[in-house]
Amino acid sequence: MPIPSHFNSENVPEHIAIIMDGNGRWAKQNGKARVFGHKSGVKSVRSVSEGAAEAGVKFLTLYAFSTENWNRPKAEVMALMQLLVTTIAGETKTLNKNNIRLAAIGDLASLPGNCQSELEKAIKNTSTNTGMTMVLALSYSSRWEIVNAVKSLLIDVKSGILDATNIDEAIFNNYLCTKNIPDPELIIRTSGEHRVSNFLLWQAAYSEFYFTDILWPDFRKENLWDAIIDFQNRERRFGKTSEQIK
Ligand code: FPP
Repeated sequence: MPIPSHFNSENVPEHIAIIMDGNGRWAKQNGKARVFGHKSGVKSVRSVSEGAAEAGVKFLTLYAFSTENWNRPKAEVMALMQLLVTTIAGETKTLNKNNIRLAAIGDLASLPGNCQSELEKAIKNTSTNTGMTMVLALSYSSRWEIVNAVKSLLIDVKSGILDATNIDEAIFNNYLCTKNIPDPELIIRTSGEHRVSNFLLWQAAYSEFYFTDILWPDFRKENLWDAIIDFQNRERRFGKTSEQIK
């Protein structure tokens, strides 16, 4: 399906971040095990990344595994890690075909060895692509990221690389995993949940939020375009009055 005619290609968020939620409920509705929902969610990842690239989005961040997800039943964690490995390995060709660069944020060292190596391989093999960047948030949580940033910052202050009195928002930003990524203008959460769940707390300071009841395995590029159209009809004021931004 082509991009709808009322889509304004002049006003597309540079960065969209998605909390992909509802895989488990989708599987349950279909009488299947939770992992079936995650597997079906990969089809949505494919459609949405294609749709984002077609729309001219430059960065697409997907919350694929949170720090808190480690607390799920061991079998589900293992199945998700295995799915990540096979998906990352299997999709590199398609990423290259679509000129998409892969990147990752999170506590990557905590991932199983084979997951880390497939990820590194795919990041390297797509590094020269110049279209969209797909950022996988893996073993990621915003509080972890912020604490980690503070630790690195303190090390640099202690060693004299950084003068504490000079620390400002831009410098702090440079210590986050997202240092080379613009803040997301739009954050989408599927499955009818209205929570931020420890995702990009610093970066979301001025993000627009879009919530939909659609469960992630049913979410397709057309739904992403609907979310972008909704974003295009909002007035972003950044603390100013409506008159000031006209
Ligand atoms: C949330 O649904 C989804 C996840 C924790 C995992 C998301 C992973 C994928 C879509 C597959 C792999 C993705 C990539 C990018 C390779 P949930 O299990 O919390 O659903 P529920 O709230 O209905 O239980």
